[in-house]
Amino acid sequence: MASLTIRKLDDAVKTYLRLRSAKNRRSVEEEVRVILRELIEGREEPLTPFAVPPATSSAPALQRTGAVPEASVTLIIGGGIAAYKSLDLIRRLKERRVEVRCVLTKAAQQFVTPLAVSALSHERVYTDLFDPQSEFDAGHIRLARDCDLVVVAPATADLMAKMANGHADDLASAVLLATNRKVLLAPAMNPLMWTNAATRRNVAQLQRDGVVLIGPNSGEMAEAGEAGTGRMSEAIEIAAAAERLLRPPVPKPLAGKRVLITAGPTHEPIDPVRYIANRSSGKQGFAIAAAAQAAGAEVILVSGPVDLGDPQGVTVKHVESARQMLEQVQAALPADIAIFAAAVADWRVANEGEQKLKKTAAGMPPLQLIENPDILATISKLTDKRPPLVIGFAAETEHLIDNAKSKLARKGCDWIVANDVSPATGVMGGDRNTVHLISRKNGGKDGEIAVDSWPVMTKEQVAIELVAHVARSVTDKSLEPAS
Ligand SMILES: Cc1cc2nc3c(=O)[nH]c(=O)nc-3n(C[C@H](O)[C@H](O)[C@H](O)COP(=O)(O)O)c2cc1C
Repeated sequence: MASLTIRKLDDAVKTYLRLRSAKNRRSVEEEVRVILRELIEGREEPLTPFAVPPATSSAPALQRTGAVPEASVTLIIGGGIAAYKSLDLIRRLKERRVEVRCVLTKAAQQFVTPLAVSALSHERVYTDLFDPQSEFDAGHIRLARDCDLVVVAPATADLMAKMANGHADDLASAVLLATNRKVLLAPAMNPLMWTNAATRRNVAQLQRDGVVLIGPNSGEMAEAGEAGTGRMSEAIEIAAAAERLLRPPVPKPLAGKRVLITAGPTHEPIDPVRYIANRSSGKQGFAIAAAAQAAGAEVILVSGPVDLGDPQGVTVKHVESARQMLEQVQAALPADIAIFAAAVADWRVANEGEQKLKKTAAGMPPLQLIENPDILATISKLTDKRPPLVIGFAAETEHLIDNAKSKLARKGCDWIVANDVSPATGVMGGDRNTVHLISRKNGGKDGEIAVDSWPVMTKEQVAIELVAHVARSVTDKSLEPAS
């Protein structure tokens, strides 16, 4: 029954089955049984080099998860023995949510068929520069530009020579000459071809041109008895290299650092229903927490009452009053960096009413104010658990820089972020901020103060810039922010 079915299959599928069964050292019938079992169980055999060609209703891994492609690659397959690995490469790229459109050179078609490539990529395959069907709207230019990356695998000695010299006499070389995208080459050839002076010159030229190479690896060659450098990198290595170019890893300069941030206003109770507050929205502190988290830090955010959702991946402690905020800040120590962006009330009501205060004939009940704990000064002056970098915020309505400079000296912190919060600026509660970063030059050794004034920015941009300064200072092991 199985052999009858296999005989009826078209050539591309037969070739695919033969290659896959040879690779897995099984008979073709056994390979078919494995494929069917995997399909029924909803998984693919992890060690096989090729994807199961899609039947009309069966979906490949990418579609099973409902994922949509996030990037696209034009894959040029050159005419080398390693072309069979490009079939697996298509699958590896699609697993990574990359859409793949393939160009086959004339020589490549001696090794893999356009039909097999089309079945695996789920796309039409391009082979001819002078193809009226795709050239009616300059198809080779679209293949070169309507993608995020061009990958050549296998990159033959011939294709690299053409690239290095700017040839464009077939579809593959024309696409490579016309592209403005990054190009990743996976060379594959006989070791003597790879070490030949002409190939060395071409590789050096291509590297100067900004082309990225992966491999070739060393080992046994397809040719009997030959070994050396020239084996194409494995499909999984090429897919990983493509992914690095498509989605460069986001730097995490604060990885391993613990950052403590305060944000928002405090509410100081007058009686059980009334309180003294200020107009702080918490937006700047929350944006700093998100930026520090994105930079890889472990972030603890102590927030007064705000109307904002907790930033993802951040531990948030919600408090009301200045005293509660100090308690949570102390509980969160030790930290590598502390950024005090909260607008903490300077005073609280000393004679807080136990019951709601009533109107009386005697007039307004007198409110006695006493000073709140100074969180910034308390933490800056710690001797044991003081974070190595302490940053305060100065919200001023006049003499901004002078007041911020004296705050820096008074509180004993390392930097002050000064912002003008007079009503005309719209900073309190608004989305934009204009700040000045005030710090001790040279880590404070010569007593000089540096003022770095930033242009008006969104609070998110201010946060990103501040975190970048923090990251630089942590890396430089100096407390002076770069200006
Ligand atoms: C069986 C066989 C295997 C080949 N393998 C390779 C190879 O691995 N690398 C290579 O650079 N050329 C190889 N060649 C030579 C190329 O196929 C030849 O240079 C061709 O012109 C390349 O065309 P292309 O670069 O347009 O694909 C091979 C040729 C044959 C007949």
